[in-house]
Order: sequence, then C-alpha cells, then structure tokens
Amino acid sequence: MKEAKSSYWQRVLDQAVDEDGQRRPFFSMAPMEAVTDTIFRRVVAKAGGPDLYYTEFTNAASMVHPEAKFSVQGRLAVAPGEQMPIAQIWGSTAAAIGGAAKLLPDLGYQAVDLNMGCPDGTVIKNEAGSDLIRHPDRADALIAAAKESGLPVSVKTRLGFYKIEEYQDWLTNILSQDIQVLTIHLRTRKEMSKVPAHYELIDDIVALRDQIAPQTLLQINGDIPNYQAGLDLAAAHPGVDGIMIGRGVLEDPFAFVKTNKQHDLAESIALLRYQLDLYDEVTAAGTSKHFEALKRYFKIYLRGFPHAAKLRQLLMDTKSTDEVRTLLAAHVDDLLALDD
Ligand SMILES: Cc1cc2nc3c(=O)[nH]c(=O)nc-3n(C[C@H](O)[C@H](O)[C@H](O)COP(=O)(O)O)c2cc1C
Repeated sequence: MKEAKSSYWQRVLDQAVDEDGQRRPFFSMAPMEAVTDTIFRRVVAKAGGPDLYYTEFTNAASMVHPEAKFSVQGRLAVAPGEQMPIAQIWGSTAAAIGGAAKLLPDLGYQAVDLNMGCPDGTVIKNEAGSDLIRHPDRADALIAAAKESGLPVSVKTRLGFYKIEEYQDWLTNILSQDIQVLTIHLRTRKEMSKVPAHYELIDDIVALRDQIAPQTLLQINGDIPNYQAGLDLAAAHPGVDGIMIGRGVLEDPFAFVKTNKQHDLAESIALLRYQLDLYDEVTAAGTSKHFEALKRYFKIYLRGFPHAAKLRQLLMDTKSTDEVRTLLAAHVDDLLALDD
C-alpha cells in the first residue's frame, strides 16, 4: 500500500477510495488564474467536486511586500465552511517563496504548491514559472525555502522548456528534492497548450519517480476532460497517484461527477444562480470582482442546449447580477419546458 510522506497527503490517499473501498487516484481541480477563486471552487464543489482544490497562482513577492500584499489577498481568500484549497505560489527568490510560505499556515492553509510551469512571458521575465526549468539550482533553493514553513511542499511543472527530452534531467532534479507531490503537465513550455499532452511518457515518468523518489506522489495533468477519463488514464498507467483537471471543468462544471450522466438545463441554471449569489457575497465582502469576468461562465452553463442560444446572447449584454437574474426569471421556464 502506497504511503505518502506527510499526514496531509496520506489523508488525501486514504480518502481516495471508490464505493467498494478500493483505492482510486485522487482528483484535483487545477490551479487556474482568474478561475479557481473561492467562488468557482464552491460552484464546482456544489456540482460534485474533486478531492482537492488549488488556488490561483499567487505572487510570493507581493505576499511579503508591505504594500503589495493587499493586492493578492483576494486570491488567497477562502470562505468559511469551504474546503481548504492548496495554496499555489510563484516566485523567483528563496526569500520571497520562504516568506510567503510561512504566511500560509496563519491563513489556514495546510499545503503549498510551487508553480514551476507557467509559460507566461511576464512570469518568465521575472525568472519564475517555467523559467525555473532552465535554472534547476534556483528551483531547488525555492523548494528548500518553502519547506521551512513546515507545510508539505509540492511542485507543478512541465516536461521541459524547449524540448520534451528535457524531462529526464529536469524531473530527476525535482524528484531528488524530497517533495510530497510532483504534478506534471505533460507538455513543454514551448508547446504551450497547442499539442496533445504527451501521455506516451507517463510510464517512463512513473518509472523515474519509482527509481528516484518512490514516496513522492505523481499527479498527471493535461487534456483530461472528466472523472471517467481520469480513472481510465490512471488504470492504463499503474503508478499514477493523482489526476488533475483544468479546462475540463470549464467545458463542463460537472466534470468531477462520478456518473457519466448528462446534466440537464435545470441543473446548469441552478449552478449559474448559485454562482451569481456567491459573486454578490464576495463583492459585498469587499473583494472587487469584475462582472465581465462572469460572462465566460454564462457560455459554460448554457453550452449543449441549442434552444438556450438566445438567452446566452442576451446574458452577454448584462451589466449586473440582478440583470442576469431578471433574464433568467423571464426565460428559464420556457426553456425548461423545451428541455423536457
Ligand atoms: C485560464 C487558465 C489559467 C491557468 N492558471 C494557472 C495557474 O495559476 N497556475 C498553474 O500552475 N497553472 C495554470 N494553468 C494551467 C492549468 O493548471 C493546467 O496545467 C493546464 O490547463 C493543462 O491542464 P488541462 O488540459 O486539464 O486544462 C492555467 C490554465 C488556464 C486554462
């Protein structure tokens, strides 16, 4: 039976069992900038969520800066009663990463994840994210600094910066740092998200992990649309401990639900209404959120319901949650009758 290095991750493993009590991979929702805030995490939890959530990536240098720290508070906000996510932070210096990680326990966080895969040009210019793949010594120093917080430390990264083959040296290095979990997004920085994830490498990466750090958990990420696909992928590649899903949840907020059933329009609209309520709650609490950012979700909830196309179009012109509610009240009964 696989054992994790820390009690936090051991609990995750212990709780990842199917109805027959058999171990299954643990599932997580990927950290996604401007998506995986307290609002969307709670929406996904209501739909039927994963075992674990991650925050949006948060700049460690801002967290420790006396003035800038206010600018990142919203990213780390967790609602009372919400399942505590794992905090994902990014940075380039041991001082920033170490200082930021030490702030997390007081905020209630029980685990920290280091971003070593972000392909964004600004993050790379700041010598962070996927730039660390080109600077393994710096990556090692960041991991060591994060560990000083006492929190279990995990790393999320890509195969390489320029070339796939880089994964051998890069992952060997990371696995040698005695981390709790390695999450591998199966692409290089150069590939961005433009090519299919390299599932053909999973078995080699499992073997590398088994050889170098058998107790480090391995989480696979990239192009996995939903729970069933994650189960199938893990079954095809023994040794995979966890499955991380990102854009799949943006395609279908019910992506983590264990049955393959199609969700009907009533369920989708209920989720949208819940998101509107949470948006108002968070805005009233003083964390400013852009209403425009809600619009990407209108598409998600109404996708796959062709007769809702007109409503979707009307929603795109709204300026407030109340306007959205008014439109829903005016249209939804008719749409639900058509959906029967
Ligand atoms: C809108 C968006 C924002 C993202 N933000 C982050 C982030 O903050 N931190 C991170 O490690 N990865 C981030 N990613 C990458 C995802 O976590 C994930 O690695 C990637 O989308 C591939 O997985 P998928 O095919 O399941 O989406 C982001 C991806 C998207 C689409």
